[in-house]
Amino acid sequence: MSPFKTVRGMRDLLAEEAETLNFVISKAREIAQFYGYKEVVTPVVEPYELLSAKSGEEIRSRMFIFKDLGDRDVALRPEFTASIARLATTALKTEPRPLRVFSVGSVYRYDEPQRGRYREFWQSNFELMGSDKPEADAEAIVLTNSLMKAAGLRNYAFKIGNIGVIRGILSQENVEDKVQNAILQLMDKKEYNKALELVKQKNCRKTLEGLLELKDDMPFETAEKIKNYVTGYDKAEVAADNLLEILKLVTACGCPVETVEPAFARGLEYYTGIIFEVTVPELDIALGGGGRYDRLIEVFGGESTPAVGVAHGLDRVALAMQMQKTTLSTRRAKTAVVIPVKPELKAEALKISQILREAGISAEFEVMGRKIGKALEDADRRKADYAVIVGERELKNAAVVLRDLAKREQSTVKIAQLIEKIMG
Ligand code: HAM
Repeated sequence: MSPFKTVRGMRDLLAEEAETLNFVISKAREIAQFYGYKEVVTPVVEPYELLSAKSGEEIRSRMFIFKDLGDRDVALRPEFTASIARLATTALKTEPRPLRVFSVGSVYRYDEPQRGRYREFWQSNFELMGSDKPEADAEAIVLTNSLMKAAGLRNYAFKIGNIGVIRGILSQENVEDKVQNAILQLMDKKEYNKALELVKQKNCRKTLEGLLELKDDMPFETAEKIKNYVTGYDKAEVAADNLLEILKLVTACGCPVETVEPAFARGLEYYTGIIFEVTVPELDIALGGGGRYDRLIEVFGGESTPAVGVAHGLDRVALAMQMQKTTLSTRRAKTAVVIPVKPELKAEALKISQILREAGISAEFEVMGRKIGKALEDADRRKADYAVIVGERELKNAAVVLRDLAKREQSTVKIAQLIEKIMG
């Protein structure tokens, strides 16, 4: 039989990759705490109907869908937002607003696998529900800035837009919602000509063509141009004003906004206002993205609740860290191997391992029953900091031999002083 492989698009993360991913997860969790987001854990498997309700054709077509043994249509979650919106209409319905909710975990999309694009990947997800103010939108961008910084990334930049500008124009020109969605899906894929072909009203098509051309290298200038351009389209005007205000707030907080894009669209259908993504120059795919979605909660049967949120692709953050050669700023625990000189000393040696672990020192016990020489060779290979050698003679004096594996020096140390010696 040929050896088993992982399913296409699914990966094993070996120790080093897992360490980086866990580092990024720990940073996302810290940020959730600093910004007042409470963590919730939701199921990986959800009703298909919930996940597909407002996600849009792009995500719907990439979901892992199946029937469970009870003949229910279920799917692996392709994102967290639908699950959190479900909570906002059920268990968290009566919680005081604003509601700040954080989640982290794996999500699943049948995307074409390539560098930075997988079928199982990790997201940290932040949702802020109950506020329609631009400071709430700004928070989603500012906390993303904090995560990029905490991951040690450089030269990252934000792209922002407001879906309300295009939707405002299309609605005023009586383009129905379904067609609007199709236009935005094509714009998300940068297929602008195809998108424009769907607009049957000549005037409206001209207006959109003009809008596309407003893109400029200077974010504030572009935002001002959009604002002036949409005069007369009431809803688009409000959206353009909102975009400018958010831009002011986030740049005041030091977020590097590189582009304001008049025709920016994202794959998800539930957005109603600001949308944004963050990228690094080394990768042409976004490390995170989000936006405002003011109607999702009412679609799920809840009270009309404005909301904004963001998800970060943690595998991509980890990949960017690797490409930018970022060092993990974690304090690595000291490591020791614990070797009993003979089998009768196992119990004593195990007790000493436990003392070390409880003091925050990583202790690997010699479980192969090897002689000292072989066990020390192996400890060197594993790059342990110390070997603790438990021998009869030293034990009689409540002591062990502590060997510094890097310096190749050893001394007899009282067990009571062992932790202090190792921690330095
Ligand atoms: P999204 O843009 O679909 O937004 O995904 C967020 C991030 O997940 C992306 O920016 C990217 O970093 C990562 N990502 C997406 N697909 C893949 C993939 N195949 N492989 C690796 N990483 C990937 C959402 O999911 C929304 N729920 C964000 C949101 C929250 N909007 C409002 N609240």
